[in-house]
Amino acid sequence: MTDIAKGLEGVLFTESKLTFINGTEGILTHLGIPIQEWAEKSTFEELSFALLHARLPSAAELARFDAQLRANREAPAKLLAEIASFPRGVHPMQALRTAVSYLGLFDAQAEEVSEEVRYAISLRMIAQFSTIIAAIARARDGYAVVAPRLDLTHAANFLYMLTGKEPTTEQARLFDIALVLHADHGMNASTFTAIATASTLSDLYSCVVSAIGALKGPLHGGANEAVMDMLDEVGTPDKAAEYISGKLDRKEKIMGVGHRVYKYFDPRSRVLRDYAEHVANKQGKSTYYQILETIEKTVVDRIGSKGIYPNVDFYSGTVYSDLGIKRELFTPIFALARISGWCASVIEYTRDNRLLRPDAVYSGATDQHYVELKDRQ
Ligand SMILES: CC(C)(COP(=O)(O)OP(=O)(O)OC[C@H]1O[C@@H](n2cnc3c(N)ncnc32)[C@H](O)[C@@H]1OP(=O)(O)O)[C@@H](O)C(=O)NCCC(=O)NCCS
Repeated sequence: MTDIAKGLEGVLFTESKLTFINGTEGILTHLGIPIQEWAEKSTFEELSFALLHARLPSAAELARFDAQLRANREAPAKLLAEIASFPRGVHPMQALRTAVSYLGLFDAQAEEVSEEVRYAISLRMIAQFSTIIAAIARARDGYAVVAPRLDLTHAANFLYMLTGKEPTTEQARLFDIALVLHADHGMNASTFTAIATASTLSDLYSCVVSAIGALKGPLHGGANEAVMDMLDEVGTPDKAAEYISGKLDRKEKIMGVGHRVYKYFDPRSRVLRDYAEHVANKQGKSTYYQILETIEKTVVDRIGSKGIYPNVDFYSGTVYSDLGIKRELFTPIFALARISGWCASVIEYTRDNRLLRPDAVYSGATDQHYVELKDRQ
């Protein structure tokens, strides 16, 4: 019997200096630095630089990188016009997938695969993802695009382009932390997909479009949207324990809990829970927060022994909702952060590229012969 690594679980296919995860102890580090420190002390801009270069920037390097990101915020006008004409009602992830593919058409360097060019494209994509996602969101609601502002940070500018209003410092910082928490996470499905595409020496836009397709699924990026739908279904905090127990009895999955790697609390969920709690304490506990508290307790009591604990998606939805962000934008916002991890991982993998080509155990029929159509039942 040949062993099959279902879901490629535990299969090591490359080396990386970017992200380390210990799932049993709930540890996540980038460049060896705990995610809690990145969230507390750093910014999305700095983490993006660190991932792309596999080292921390100097103050001058960070200032230059930040200036380059700001200078690249404008998206092609034709693309923005195209976004405005997308069919009404398509999911923003469908729109993002199409928009990024379209963006590649405007880039004269799109087909170049040298590290230098890929770095330049990464920088443009990190900057323009925010403009594109904000434009997609506004077009869905029938509003005109808001042009980027160069005096705002990456996080603050995104919220500004989304709403047309400058966010408070606290709102911008909270959103920045959410971006930091989602920027990279090792060989998750979308990063692996980006690398698989890169391994054929395809262009970076194709890698990112592939990754967006992988991120879109509810088992990966779509879970926080599903968590919010679940909270609505629960309705009130007093019904939460019974609702979850019923689902577990019927062997149904609870969204926002469980993880392929973490068999203990996902450290990102702890950071987000602390912020959700901070907001709850300031503004009074929201119904959503109270339901989440009960769900967390019920899940940990009932299936914590199976290694099922809240993941990053468990609390991120309430944090985004508190920022006034609609739930269909949650996954595009995940992409807004993960673009840095995708690009950095593609660049890192390509340095020692090998075409990815796993195999399957053949379990189909043998010793057959072609049957003419007319002779088939
Ligand atoms: C993420 C996920 C796909 C990982 O699954 P996995 O690694 O395949 O986990 P396993 O199937 O090995 O889970 C072990 C056990 O816990 C159960 N389990 C896993 N996730 C569960 C969940 N979300 N709710 C209830 N039970 C769950 C499994 O059914 C299995 O039970 P069993 O041993 O009785 O068969 C899964 O946890 C899931 O679907 N979570 C919900 C979606 C989500 O939040 N995704 C975002 C991830 S960041």
